[in-house]
Amino acid sequence: MKRFHVTTFGCQMNEHDSERMKGMLSSLGYSEVEQRDQADLILFNTCSIRENADNRFISHLGEAKRLKSEDPERIVGVGGCWAQSVKDEVFRRFPFVDVAFGPGQIHRLAEFLNSDSLTAQGYFEFEEFSGDLPEQRSRPFQGWLQISQGCNCVCSYCIVPSTRGREESRLPAVLVAEAERLAADGVREITLLGQNVNSYGRDLPPDEKTRFSELLRMIDSVDGIDRIRYTSPHPKDIREDVIAAHVELEALCEHIHLPLQSGSDPILKKMRRTYTRERYMDRVAMIREALPDCAITTDIIVGFPGESDEDFQQTLEVAEEVGYDGAFTFIYSPRRGTLAAEMDAQVPHPMKKERMAALIEVIQRRAHERAQRFVGRSMEVLVEGPSRNDPSRIRGRIRHNKAVNFEGTAEPGRMVEVEIGSATSQALTGSQRLLSAIGV
Ligand code: 5AD
Ligand code: SF4
Repeated sequence: MKRFHVTTFGCQMNEHDSERMKGMLSSLGYSEVEQRDQADLILFNTCSIRENADNRFISHLGEAKRLKSEDPERIVGVGGCWAQSVKDEVFRRFPFVDVAFGPGQIHRLAEFLNSDSLTAQGYFEFEEFSGDLPEQRSRPFQGWLQISQGCNCVCSYCIVPSTRGREESRLPAVLVAEAERLAADGVREITLLGQNVNSYGRDLPPDEKTRFSELLRMIDSVDGIDRIRYTSPHPKDIREDVIAAHVELEALCEHIHLPLQSGSDPILKKMRRTYTRERYMDRVAMIREALPDCAITTDIIVGFPGESDEDFQQTLEVAEEVGYDGAFTFIYSPRRGTLAAEMDAQVPHPMKKERMAALIEVIQRRAHERAQRFVGRSMEVLVEGPSRNDPSRIRGRIRHNKAVNFEGTAEPGRMVEVEIGSATSQALTGSQRLLSAIGV
């Protein structure tokens, strides 16, 4: 039996793509191994969102080169966004790579492996959705459901539109059928994936047009799905109907990720985000009014070209005002082929780092404060496994997407009640309530 090893970089979309790659390889008779040096097929699913994602990957690739020189029969494959962004250049820069493919071309890997091709192959077309691959889930009770591929936004810093193509939604009936299959297979928590989930369905033919909120409703009615999450929305497209869905739908979790990127109007304009600070804050107010307890998280970039102290202060103000439950913070890095990479007034690196530190201080302090609302409450937790730092404890997640470490006995995949004793910006701590204690 042939053995494969996959290393995944990047976002949840990539993690899901890797699960599909693994499922496809299993159906071809390959088995997965833990160590790269045990594998006949060494794969990388790459990311290009930031520079350090590229750099990390390239050092891993060095090891693949060494392993390939020890055993030239080994196959080295590079998929994902970085591969797509450099295309055939991969083979020039890394001649030991046998196959390279973009995110929309995972299925072509099977074609390559089944052919007797002795020459390196690259697959970078944008085609129809390649989603109908059997995924191999890393946790049996959590599943991804890719609702669309590609992105029609034109954010000036972002490489994704060029690596994943134009937005294409999958048909609602196909998605419901897939959700039903996942539920029948033991999945309790589904995460809907798309680059911009809120614009889901707009590209569908007239008789199939479906709003994102309608899709949420359809998935909510699938038996066995206790939790629905989605990522990522774009603040410009999040509307009342989606907020209402959060109020009404039982399975839809109390968490909204609302990428801010910057709090300054001139920077938002240069980023081509198509909203202002005021409109963003209106969305936040709308969420807070309908769902006071809902977690709000965000993505913020510091050091975008031309960002002045005044612009950055605006970002700090928004972070302070919103009080996010958590945030992914990024130092701007120019990406090839994007508009922002060509802009003047790139911010010097030491200043970016200074701003990052100031931002993290605000984010963490506010997240810590926000998290205190959970203390003393009994929260529903989906158990994920042993705690990372202390294996005698258990780790899970509440519906608000906060991690919880607790004392208890529950198995992964179970839903338990945990009494929250303390909270930091990162995680909650508590102890499991026994059934007798909650009167069941
Ligand atoms: N530099 C820094 N951060 C970036 N992001 C996207 N492109 C860049 C870039 N060139 C961030 C955005 C996005 C998140 C996934 O990555 O904040 O929301
Ligand atoms: Fe995901 Fe973007 Fe990285 Fe591609 S470039 S893997 S879409 S984060």
